[in-house]
Amino acid sequence: MKSWKIASIPGDGVGKEVVPAAERVLHAMAEVHDGFQFEFTSFPWSCEYYLEHGVMMPEDGLDTLASFDSIFLGAVGNENLVPDHVSLWGLLIKIRREFEQVINMRPAKVLPGVRSPLANPKEFDFVVVRENSEGEYSSSGGRTGRGEDEIAIQNAVFTRKGTERAMRFAFEQANKRGSHVTSATKSNGIIHSMPFWDDVFNDVKTDFPKVTTDSQHIDALAAFLVTKPETLDVVVASNLFGDILTDIGAGIMGSIGVAPAANLNVNGKYPSMFEPVHGSAPDIVGQGIANPIGQIWTAKMMLDHLGEEASATKILDAIEHVTREQIVTPDLGGTATTEEVTEAIIKQLKR
Ligand code: NAI
Ligand code: MG
Repeated sequence: MKSWKIASIPGDGVGKEVVPAAERVLHAMAEVHDGFQFEFTSFPWSCEYYLEHGVMMPEDGLDTLASFDSIFLGAVGNENLVPDHVSLWGLLIKIRREFEQVINMRPAKVLPGVRSPLANPKEFDFVVVRENSEGEYSSSGGRTGRGEDEIAIQNAVFTRKGTERAMRFAFEQANKRGSHVTSATKSNGIIHSMPFWDDVFNDVKTDFPKVTTDSQHIDALAAFLVTKPETLDVVVASNLFGDILTDIGAGIMGSIGVAPAANLNVNGKYPSMFEPVHGSAPDIVGQGIANPIGQIWTAKMMLDHLGEEASATKILDAIEHVTREQIVTPDLGGTATTEEVTEAIIKQLKR
């Protein structure tokens, strides 16, 4: 029997509540499937760990993680203990960068029974593929001068390799989904990087003749996510554009507590990392009411990545069953606890 080795990092706050919940769902899925199992190894790396050891993870932490099939992370951050930039850069960003997790993928989909802030949402179901390693988030540039003569220059770095990699990944996703890719561009306003982005898009698309495409300027596309999200299938975007679009995606789903995400390594050299969109939610920690759906949906994405697609689909079906039945936590207007939602999902899986 296949045994998937998963490094589990619950992290801080509600991460410690929703990660164990999602692990239980994965164990239940393995029981039902009877063809694979999960072996979780839990690491206490977090802000509390930092207080004790002066680092977010041990020096050989990355070496330790490298031997796992996947990394399953909750949330990192506790401003009362450690400044956010220290905790984020010491753990999350370090793993993303060092393990070349060059794609960030975030689906957005209407869950039955969940109220979207959109007045009349049609059945949208799309995924944003965001370039996760370069683009606008580069360290190239600088500041000079003082007072009214001060200047800041921030360079965006787009390589053909990085751009093409993200686009190919998006097209491969489209092949498995609705066969359409939308490119987020701004070649009317940004005169070097975005015409380049368009050129690479036009090159790559010739390799995927079955996939239809369109190209939209980022400002118009941001509006489409609100006015007609049901027309989208796969959106491919640069680092900054993707960052912004995915937050709109999480927003229109109804609660950040349901939004999943994946940081993917695509050269097979290092494991990928799966973490929900939300943070450590200090305002509700310890109350047992954190929504576990974002973490459980993230587990579903991990199963997809491991090639267990049929089981992944079953998990999403079970999530949709409980939202339809309104077994939901307070962020979705319900009264259920983390425990009750998790149990309901497990019960549905075992049905
Ligand atoms: P947050 O996502 O933790 O919370 C924002 C709001 O959403 C809060 O009202 C919270 O109660 C609610 N929320 C979040 N997750 C929820 C869930 N599962 N169920 C129900 N409600 C949920 O973002 P915030 O407050 O800006 O950040 C708190 C800490 O988390 C900070 O230290 C921040 O740096 C960190 N953070 C970490 C992230 C990560 O690990 N990827 C992402 C975002 C923030
Ligand atoms: Mg963001």
